[in-house]
Amino acid sequence: MERNHYITEAELERQKKIAEAVYLETRDRDLKYFVETFGCQMNVRDSETIKGELVEMGYSEAPGKEEADLILYNTCCVRDHAEKRLMGNIGALKELKDRKPGLIIGVCGCMMQQEAVAKKLLKRFPHVSLVFGTNVLYRFPEMLEKVMNGERIAVTDRADDAIAEGLPQMRDNARSAFVNIMFGCNNFCSYCIVPYVRGRERSRMPEDIRREIESLVRSGISEITLLGQNVNSYGNDGSTGMTFAQLLRYVSDVPGLKRLRFMSSHPKDLNEDVIQAIAAIPNVCHHVHLPVQSGNDEILRRMNRRYTRERYLSIINRLRELVPDIEFTTDIIVGFPGETEEAFSDTLSLVKEVGFAAAFTFAYSPRQGTVAAKMEDQIPEPVKKRRLKQLNELQAEKTVENNEKYIGYVGEVLVEGCDMRNDTTMLYGKYQNFKMVYFPGDISLLNQYVTVRVLQTNKNSLLGEMIDE
Ligand code: SAH
Ligand code: SF4
Ligand code: F3S
Repeated sequence: MERNHYITEAELERQKKIAEAVYLETRDRDLKYFVETFGCQMNVRDSETIKGELVEMGYSEAPGKEEADLILYNTCCVRDHAEKRLMGNIGALKELKDRKPGLIIGVCGCMMQQEAVAKKLLKRFPHVSLVFGTNVLYRFPEMLEKVMNGERIAVTDRADDAIAEGLPQMRDNARSAFVNIMFGCNNFCSYCIVPYVRGRERSRMPEDIRREIESLVRSGISEITLLGQNVNSYGNDGSTGMTFAQLLRYVSDVPGLKRLRFMSSHPKDLNEDVIQAIAAIPNVCHHVHLPVQSGNDEILRRMNRRYTRERYLSIINRLRELVPDIEFTTDIIVGFPGETEEAFSDTLSLVKEVGFAAAFTFAYSPRQGTVAAKMEDQIPEPVKKRRLKQLNELQAEKTVENNEKYIGYVGEVLVEGCDMRNDTTMLYGKYQNFKMVYFPGDISLLNQYVTVRVLQTNKNSLLGEMIDE
């Protein structure tokens, strides 16, 4: 396959040289970074790249903002409250900057890809000296070098949306990792800002994805989540020679890869091939995050989701038929423009019917520049709030119901962390189908697989005990 949408080797080499030069100049200074990440897994993954680049340039992680020489916010703009919060956070750093004039304060990510917001931020906060968007991470060494030399930099173009391979990375944890398979989104759901700030869909080559997974698994990671705004449309432009179902098969046999996950799935592209792949590939996890957004056909149409309630339910039923222990999670928006009480009740009835393991629920938030923001019949805030509460109450009941199925269940859990409860160390982790369970155990089991039997459930979680298998 031809690689025509990539940052050139020469450019990547040039950035590497700059990073080396910065490293040589600063290595005696013990510089520290503090990176705070908002938003979705895409941003989490991007922050891992930025941290990798910082480490290459001689930085290490600061325990907190006070100790940092560089503070960077990686921002999200999918709903509107984030902007106020960010402005507040940045404003509060002025005092620290006054005390530490050498401190570099930067802001990056999706919100900075909205030109008006980036401009407003730069104007309002002279103590911010570095601003960049979502697709210029490969240029970070060059930007940082300039800022270190006293310049103020704002890069909010998207460099033609080309893909940069082989950037450094500092992974956040030692058991589980996100791997991008594609960037951007072409779907233009009428409420959503993501296609505007993340650009058009482009997919990585299968060999690059597999190589990255191999290297992560060699370093001890056993759970991989393939990332994209809509993983089911992987390779749809024909540039990779593979569909998503084929990619799943192609990467699943990396030796040592125990769990293969993916997100998000868009219902319109989740076809029979993908369903067959989920059912047939042994290490593909039995969990699908399948955002439904609404249970009403007219609202789905106005959202530009391009599926019906019936089609959504038929995917759920087909997957349950082939994979009986599969669990679904979802995203739902309430109070979309024009959502009548009747339309909202269709969402409630869908939630009842499906029985999601969990739902991420949101009140519709108008985003400037999107089609829905200009629609008439916007829903008043108090109505959105009331619907959100009603939906959350229903989902809470369904979560309890779903948990009750698990009493007596036995399965393998990957240990993610621990909490102290009444002097007992409670470990927690997930079964392969994403259900979380708490159980007493020793912290030395972190990142290991153990077998756990569920004994009881409380409101939100399963409680169990480790057993020998
Ligand atoms: N690409 C993913 C979703 C990314 S955004 C997908 O399509 O599945 C994550 C979730 O935020 C969306 O699923 C949606 O439920 C919610 N969301 C997006 N835009 C929103 C808006 N303007 N108001 C409220 N919620 C929104
Ligand atoms: Fe937004 Fe829709 Fe794209 Fe998801 S699929 S990122 S909701 S436009
Ligand atoms: Fe937010 Fe950007 Fe993700 S807007 S939800 S961080 S793609």
